[in-house]
This record gives sequence, C-alpha cells and structure tokens, in this order.
Amino acid sequence: MELNKYNMKNNSKKARIDKHGLCLNEYKNNNNNAKVYYARSIGKAPEMEVSKAISMILKPMIKEENKILDVGCATGHFYRSLKKRIKKNFYYTGTDPYEIFLKKARLAWKNDKNAQFVNGNIYKLPFKKNEFDISFCSNVFIHLNDVIKPLKELIRVSKKKIIIRTVLFDVSYKIQLVYNKNWWKDTDIPAEREFDKKGNARAFSYFNILSFDYISQNIKKIEPKCKIKIIKDNFFNKKKIIKSQKNERRPLATKILGNEQISGCILQPHYFIIISK
Ligand SMILES: C[S@@+](CC[C@H](N)C(=O)[O-])C[C@H]1O[C@@H](n2cnc3c(N)ncnc32)[C@H](O)[C@@H]1O
Repeated sequence: MELNKYNMKNNSKKARIDKHGLCLNEYKNNNNNAKVYYARSIGKAPEMEVSKAISMILKPMIKEENKILDVGCATGHFYRSLKKRIKKNFYYTGTDPYEIFLKKARLAWKNDKNAQFVNGNIYKLPFKKNEFDISFCSNVFIHLNDVIKPLKELIRVSKKKIIIRTVLFDVSYKIQLVYNKNWWKDTDIPAEREFDKKGNARAFSYFNILSFDYISQNIKKIEPKCKIKIIKDNFFNKKKIIKSQKNERRPLATKILGNEQISGCILQPHYFIIISK
C-alpha cells in the first residue's frame, strides 16, 4: 500500500491510495456507500439498472446447481436481481476485499443457504481453478491500475463464462479522478493542493477506459480458444437513472446525456465483455 506524500507529512491516515489505484477511503471507511448497497440488497432501495442487466444476460446461461461468482460484490445486491429473475437452484458466492461491505452482505443474506461471502481480491482470488461455472465482475475494472492479472484470475476460476462490465472505446485512456476536501469528506487535501510539485495527484482513483483491442487481444493471449462477445450496455431505463441521480445528489452519480448513461465526465458507454471458455 502506498501512502501519498501530503498525508504522510501531516501524519494523517486520510486519502490513502492502495497499490491498485483505488482510493481506500472510498471503499474501506466510507459507510455511506455500504449503506446504499445494503439498502439494495435487502430490497429497501431499487435495483440498479446494471444488476437487472447482468441478471438478464445470465438468465439463459445459468443451469440448475450452477455455482456463480460475483467479484467486487459489495453487499451482494446483484444476488437480489439474480434471484428475482432466475428461478433455478444456483449457488452464489460474492467476493470483495473490504469487510465494511462483506459484514453487511452476510447480514443481508444470513438466512439464504445458497449465498456465501468470501474476503478476496481480484488480483489473487481465493478460489480453485474452474471452481465456478460462471463469474461476473461489474464496475471494478474501471478502477484498476492493471487488468491483466484480474483477467487471468477471472478466467482461471471460471469453468464456462466470464462477464465483465466496464467502459471501452477505440483507444485506451488512463484517467484519474482527483480528490479534494471541498467535495470529498474523506480527504484532508485542500483544492489548491490537489497536485504536487511534479504534477502528480495527491489522492485519486482511476476511471480508466480500455481499448477494444487491448482487452480482446489480452483475453485471447490468456485463453486462446475462448470466444469473446462484446455488447453495449443498452439495457438501462433512462427514467430510472434520472430518478436515482436526483436521489443521490452527488457529483459522481450516473446520469443521462442524450441516450447514454454517463459516469462523471466519461462520455463513453459501458460494455459487457462476455468470455466463453
Ligand atoms: C463501484 S463498486 C461496484 C459494486 C458492484 N459490483 C456494482 O457494480 O454495483 C466496486 C467494488 O469493487 C470492490 N473492489 C475494489 N477493489 C477490489 C479488488 N482489488 N478486488 C475485488 N473487488 C474490489 C469494491 O470494494 C466495491 O465493492
């Protein structure tokens, strides 16, 4: 784990960045995120459009007794959408590195014998080769510094299919979202010190865009015989996104621009990468 210089000087534990570029405070200490996901897991807040989409994509793929893995599961809110649409007996494992989410996930699903939650990191998943029939990973790749090991790990633990949702474009962009204390309460960095003297961000998380070529050629390199299908995420209901943006009232809430759903300043759409082994 890297500690950024500004906060080391100030002996503060705020605004730490982990070695994969994720802002630890966002996930590790920010209970608000966890509460929002938890409300979705217990059905007190509406399903996300993306969790409906993934469950519709998975519906024809999941067979009786299949084992399904959700990487970066937060509180297991996707499981609610899967159960709602898929009327088969299947087993769901959610994995996430942050206990703040996993504790709430275990609470939300404590009476469900088909669901389990395991502390795990996409860079070294705590599962055996081919342990799952299908795995999926939504809205995690965008935040990762390097996606090659995560791709290898997802392919290793999955017997049949892997579904990844992230932002793709013709060319790759490496983008940092830079934090300051005016809008992000978990950092103590003043706006005028967002960047250090070398021009490096003091606290950031990645919002990267990967090129179609980079992602598909690397998947083929890892698993030469696989089939890759990339489909645009057109599965969302515009009105529902607009409503949830209003409820969230935060600068990074997903919004609608024209016919696209937009995350922050990223004007490119999300895609589902479906890998069949
Ligand atoms: C933006 S949230 C997405 C949650 C959910 N998959 C969704 O699409 O709504 C990113 C999730 O990835 C998890 N995460 C962060 N770093 C991770 C890592 N190295 N391995 C696995 N999951 C990670 C976070 O804790 C968080 O639950």
